[in-house]
Amino acid sequence: MNVYEQVIELAKRRGFFWPSYSIYGGESGFYDYGPLGVLLKDNVIRTWKEAYVSEGGIMIDTPVIVPESVFRTSGHIEKFSDLATECPKCHNREKLETVMKASGNENVINDENQANEFLAANTVKCVKCGTRITKAFESKQMFKIPDQVNSGNLYLRPETAQGIFVNFKLLNTVFRGKLPMAVAQLGKGFRNEISPRQGLLRMKELNMGEVEVFVIPDKKYWKELIAGDEIKLVPKTGPEVSSDVRSAFEKGIISSNAMAYFINKTYDILKNVGIKHENIRFRQQHDDELAHYSVDTWDAEALLDDSWVEVVGIADRNDLRKHQDATGESVSVKVDDADVIPSIIEPAYGIDRMVMSLLMNSFYTRENGFKVLRIPEKIAPYHAAVLPLVNKDGLDLLAKELHEKLLLNDPYVYFDQSGSIGKRYARQDEIGTPYCITLDHDSATEKTVTVRERDSTKQTRISMDSLIEYGIIGNPEIRKFRETLQ
Ligand code: GLY
Repeated sequence: MNVYEQVIELAKRRGFFWPSYSIYGGESGFYDYGPLGVLLKDNVIRTWKEAYVSEGGIMIDTPVIVPESVFRTSGHIEKFSDLATECPKCHNREKLETVMKASGNENVINDENQANEFLAANTVKCVKCGTRITKAFESKQMFKIPDQVNSGNLYLRPETAQGIFVNFKLLNTVFRGKLPMAVAQLGKGFRNEISPRQGLLRMKELNMGEVEVFVIPDKKYWKELIAGDEIKLVPKTGPEVSSDVRSAFEKGIISSNAMAYFINKTYDILKNVGIKHENIRFRQQHDDELAHYSVDTWDAEALLDDSWVEVVGIADRNDLRKHQDATGESVSVKVDDADVIPSIIEPAYGIDRMVMSLLMNSFYTRENGFKVLRIPEKIAPYHAAVLPLVNKDGLDLLAKELHEKLLLNDPYVYFDQSGSIGKRYARQDEIGTPYCITLDHDSATEKTVTVRERDSTKQTRISMDSLIEYGIIGNPEIRKFRETLQ
């Protein structure tokens, strides 16, 4: 099994996530987050949110159901579609791009007529049964809710961004008319994927964390750039480079200060949630890949089982003027006595893809065959588990008492008294719990506990009082112990 298959198996067995509606035969493209998955996803969201609130960003929460007029203006009604194929024999549906790639054709076709001409002149086969595909058709990506109360058609939003754009003026007033301004929205997006698969990587209902950074168009400036880490950058022209964003901006590889700044910020967020440095790259989209609203996009990609997968898209877009033209409502801001319509740099995060990527980056198998998730301690569903070594001589009661005290400061502490200690360690390793706290006979007399660290499996002894006073994350004795493990 590759890492993806092993993670999918573990995720279902231990309660991170699984396919939805399985007792009714399943519905592809939909996944449930289970008990651990909800905690893990929340920690990813918290990391993302804190990164933007500490940046001075403000937040908004708008409806998932949107009137047609908004998406007519944004261009989604006309342009948000994929070219699809259906096998004439087995009726398997795929994106045109997928069947073309599988048949060795790397060229990108965006026009239905061109696609049909290409399929007539070239042999492109069904990826399931090998039958020749001869026809392509346009498949709309938005879910439509037909008019039921004479108010016109409604749509499930494919992006949260439009909810921010239509509120730009109100938001900017709250922000006291200043630019630049960053607005973030977390919420569900819906996309009618032709062939959803790959677990959380391609879903019809997805968790999105989008940030719209409104900047003065001729500068596209957010904040001074710091050099930062060297990041893998794949520009649309020229060779791949490893560079910090400040140098990349100075050399013209990245076109604006704001784009460079948010590439670096996105890199930090991805690393903080547990995606390894060497498994992150930023690839600039080619012109024929760009979404209808974007003039320049850099995708943050994660290397998963030898394939680079898009996790975040950072687009340079200009939607505000379209909404002004359609509604007559001004979207301009006074800058040095001039009326300015801001440009937008949009880092858009696929939260589910971040969850899947961090799980695949954390997963490994020990020599004894046991599986471990090396999730960063602030992201793991539980920070620690309290485990009495034996359930007699009052140790179980002492452990329960300690657990209850720890819960007062940190609800993410698990308690487990069933099975051998080895099995209990293995269970916690498999769900990524960074520390196991065991109580033995000395605990009762000396008021100390053993702390076992997940990745090294090394142990140290610390006082119960320190644990109760400082908790687990940030505990000075545990921090000191960790330093000895580096
Ligand atoms: N707003 C980004 C996207 O639609 O992918």
